[in-house]
Amino acid sequence: MTEIQPTIFPLSTTFNIKVKNKTARVGVIGLGYVGLPVGLLFARNGLPTTGFDIDPAKVERLEKGETYIRHIPASVIAEQVGKGGFRATTDFALLKEMDAILICVPTPLDQHREPDLSFVRNTTEAIMPHLRRGQLVVLESTTYPGTTEEVVLPILEKSGLKCPILPYATDGSRVTAPQQPAGDFLLAFSPEREDPGNKQFQTHQIPKVVAGVNAPSALAAQALYGQVFERTFVVSSTRAAEMAKILENTYRCVNIALVNELKLLCLRMGIDIWEVIEAARTKPFGFTPFFPGPGLGGHCIPIDPFYLTWKAREYDFPTRFIELAGEINSAMPEHVVASLRGALNRRGQCLQDARILILGIAYKKDIDDLRESPSLRIIELLKQNGARVDYHDPYFPRLHRMRKYDFGMVAVEPTAEALASYDAVVIVTDHSSYDYADIVRNSRLVIDTRNATKEVEEHRERIVRC
Ligand SMILES: NC(=O)c1ccc[n+]([C@@H]2O[C@H](COP(=O)([O-])OP(=O)(O)OC[C@H]3O[C@@H](n4cnc5c(N)ncnc54)[C@H](O)[C@@H]3O)[C@@H](O)[C@H]2O)c1
Repeated sequence: MTEIQPTIFPLSTTFNIKVKNKTARVGVIGLGYVGLPVGLLFARNGLPTTGFDIDPAKVERLEKGETYIRHIPASVIAEQVGKGGFRATTDFALLKEMDAILICVPTPLDQHREPDLSFVRNTTEAIMPHLRRGQLVVLESTTYPGTTEEVVLPILEKSGLKCPILPYATDGSRVTAPQQPAGDFLLAFSPEREDPGNKQFQTHQIPKVVAGVNAPSALAAQALYGQVFERTFVVSSTRAAEMAKILENTYRCVNIALVNELKLLCLRMGIDIWEVIEAARTKPFGFTPFFPGPGLGGHCIPIDPFYLTWKAREYDFPTRFIELAGEINSAMPEHVVASLRGALNRRGQCLQDARILILGIAYKKDIDDLRESPSLRIIELLKQNGARVDYHDPYFPRLHRMRKYDFGMVAVEPTAEALASYDAVVIVTDHSSYDYADIVRNSRLVIDTRNATKEVEEHRERIVRC
């Protein structure tokens, strides 16, 4: 194998020149938590960017320079829209004007907990009639290994244009390959590592893993992302890149399950799991802290590992770690409810008819995303047990209808008077805006699933950590 000379792959060479000149037009499909920041990143770096979404309300708001994601300021959108660097549209015919098309649509599980690739399929079908020679298509949605080659590629090739799957080698930065027959378009996979609400890392600072179905596709993706990300890391196949993303999320899922299980043991043994983790994390090597909680939430950690489980069945391979972690994590809301029931019983009360206030609906602190949030399952369980439930979350003044839940609830302000009127307050999400000392001072009983009250000194007898 020889190191690639730029001239060997005219398709990627032409593409790379456009990227370097900042004349490459970038299209981002799916303007959600992942697509919108990525689109704005390209726009801010001078690559003319168009965002595509099927939701006309989102497109309309973006075109007015407004935001619908709390941690993405309207000023950033307004600046790029004003300059003409970013525009949003529902008109997919404009895809043919794009040089690169990034797919950032949802990859949820269906009601049987199997991968629902309908968003990816529909988007790819929408690209196909507009696909043209020299375009780069990149799948960014998290999915099982094989999706780019087995699902996206065949749909795109229905256009009559070809993109052969061919081997290449890489050490992470250099791509090496034998001379390869030219394809018509370029196809890559590059997983998104967006961490909403994380103030430590901005999108461009998080290294971007990229891979192509062949060497020119890998080179084009490397050039594109290298223009806006501080670091890219090329792997030798889209399947390896897809697996890398699932590994990252499975690693979190399994380790969170481990500390959740140890928390249950520690509670029985009268040991403070939070103190244990603080002690263990002083080890300067070989230990990464994970924290227990009320259960997993978000679009990624509770879902992505099961994409792999589903694919592994094709290879007659049981993913036992994933299944066990899923079992432990998904039992945590039941544990929270059992702890609440026990605490009420010890006070001579029962859950039936008890008035309960849930604090925090978002799946993690300081963000406005409630997908898969354990709060929703906890509310469902409490209602099933006859409790009278209210909630508060600074980011959700009301609970709209969701795919699985329709509570029709409106947030209750946690004033001193309101807090005192509940039999128990359950802290499910530890938003920074809450005054935890105030919450404990004014509540009769506080169930703390996040160790949010650790600094509270007064009335600790009212706190039950679970
Ligand atoms: N949210 C995260 O923190 C995060 C992090 C890393 C990876 N991911 C992955 O990124 C992908 C996208 O997740 P997200 O959180 O941004 O989802 P999201 O729901 O916030 O956004 C998806 C957007 O796609 C749009 N959409 C749906 N179908 C479409 C179609 N056919 N054509 C055009 N637009 C369409 C929706 O209207 C929505 O605006 C998923 O695969 C997810 O697993 C998410």
